[in-house]
Amino acid sequence: MAKIIGVSGSTRKNATDYALREALKAAEEVDGIETEFISLRGKKINPCIHCDRCIREEYKGCLVYKDDDMDALYLKCLEADGLLLASPVFEMGISPQLSAFMSRFRSTYLDLRKDPEVFGNHVGAAIAVGGTRNGGQEMTIACIHNFFHTNGYVVTGGALGVYAGASIWSQDNIKFDESVDPIGIANARKLGVKMAHTVSKMSK
Ligand SMILES: Cc1cc2nc3c(=O)[nH]c(=O)nc-3n(C[C@H](O)[C@H](O)[C@H](O)COP(=O)(O)O)c2cc1C
Repeated sequence: MAKIIGVSGSTRKNATDYALREALKAAEEVDGIETEFISLRGKKINPCIHCDRCIREEYKGCLVYKDDDMDALYLKCLEADGLLLASPVFEMGISPQLSAFMSRFRSTYLDLRKDPEVFGNHVGAAIAVGGTRNGGQEMTIACIHNFFHTNGYVVTGGALGVYAGASIWSQDNIKFDESVDPIGIANARKLGVKMAHTVSKMSK
């Protein structure tokens, strides 16, 4: 089985979690794919302070914040064949929780300098959920893609009509279900399926 891990960068159980879960459910319908949903809500993840001890001391993880929740999560995510990152849109970009999570991938540099292709068969994809219809979803998706590019992942969108990734309009602060943005959720599912097909091909 190939594995896709979905990480929600929201602090709430609402639209971002919903969209990500739907994408993962759709991905699981593809043969040979298993998924896991992880929420950053309630997790202690300190942002990287760029001390570079991990690089100097060749440590896979963080030597400063050894006791927070990130190292275990980091190692788990690196083992997955696919990483689907979902963020609520904050100030037309990613949430601070997702930003802290991404910053803690600093020590991938250790692997990348030995082999720039080390994550070349890993697949990344993005979902963005904004309170406004055009509130910065595409920039948020681009920000997530940039993270994948820095690590040499293969980045996939959702193909026809779901080009870069899934953009969802939550209409802000209401209990989210599919009826709030049926097109956005359909696109999240299309992204999940496309990602699963890509993971399937890459992991053969
Ligand atoms: C600090 C902050 C900044 C936000 N900035 C934006 C924004 O720039 N564009 C937007 O569309 N929505 C923005 N929102 C609204 C959230 O993206 C929206 O409520 C989203 O649905 C939250 O997802 P969740 O319910 O899954 O946590 C912002 C919310 C907060 C708290």
